[in-house]
Amino acid sequence: MKEVVLSGIRPTGFLHLGNYFGAMRNYVRMQDEYNCYFFVADWHSLTTHPDTKELKNSVLRVVAENIACGLDPEKVALYVQSDVKEIAELYLYLNMMAYVGELEKTPTFKDKVRQNPDNVNAGLLTYPVLMAADILVHRAVKVPVGKDQEQHVELARKFAERFNYRYGDLFPAPQAFNYGTQLVKIMSLDGNGKMSKSENQMATLYLADEDDAIRKKIMKAKTDSGPTEPNSQKPDYIENLFTLMNLVSTPDVVQHYETAFNGCAIRYGDLKKQLAEDMVNFMSPIRQKAADLQANKELLAKIMKAGAEKARASASETLKLVRQATGVNYF
Ligand code: TRP
Repeated sequence: MKEVVLSGIRPTGFLHLGNYFGAMRNYVRMQDEYNCYFFVADWHSLTTHPDTKELKNSVLRVVAENIACGLDPEKVALYVQSDVKEIAELYLYLNMMAYVGELEKTPTFKDKVRQNPDNVNAGLLTYPVLMAADILVHRAVKVPVGKDQEQHVELARKFAERFNYRYGDLFPAPQAFNYGTQLVKIMSLDGNGKMSKSENQMATLYLADEDDAIRKKIMKAKTDSGPTEPNSQKPDYIENLFTLMNLVSTPDVVQHYETAFNGCAIRYGDLKKQLAEDMVNFMSPIRQKAADLQANKELLAKIMKAGAEKARASASETLKLVRQATGVNYF
């Protein structure tokens, strides 16, 4: 039996190149080797984004972009969280396994309270419980997430252990997991932190960006007047341009600019022009495929329904076992 892998994506903001190389490309690599569940966490987004005007579009876009990036809905269960009601039921049970004190201590909760003191809702506090329900409902063991989510996976493991201790072994222990070792980190083009779904839009390459926007953003990327000593260490914003080049350009192109950098003969204008063209060639088929899918609402609906069915088959089996284990079943 293949191990169960699960991950979720919040439909807040636009997916970008950092999501692609840090997450989605790994999902695509996992789809043959594991029994994969990938979903759009629309309930989670309500904890911080109560205005739902953009929600439907965002959800459809995230589904379409994931498929455009290579996820095959025939191979994986690709679904929307709210289509699987069993998650809400498991969330209820798991809420009894979570202590208010440990939820209040969670750094992501504290961050969100600081960012938005006027909307400290109970859903925000129990965010990790809902996330645990997402994971445990398929009895997943591997959860590909970034560093910022590792603590949530750890909490999911604790809730699972407490449930098992109280009601008998049911849930395997989930683990944060990354394919291979290092994930590629993509920095913002202005050199300030990571690419972001909402911040620094001019310095982030979104999967939905048109060719000219891609070119413009890359041409504006932060550089300097170049190294003055041979074989210098690259500043991180230059390193980032090379990282991008390594991902989308041919090895001889990369080599050419490496040599130029090491010989203090680099012209960043040329590098950026080359990178911009290679990036456009890389990104534009993804954008077009996603746009085609978004235009085909019927096909998209069919894919989402099929995904929900696959997910519910697994989820309802788990809930049956949960009701048996807890004794909350009467006939
Ligand atoms: N909290 C995750 C994020 O913000 C999204 C998410 C929701 C998730 N449920 C999940 C990730 C379950 C992994 C597993 O990125």
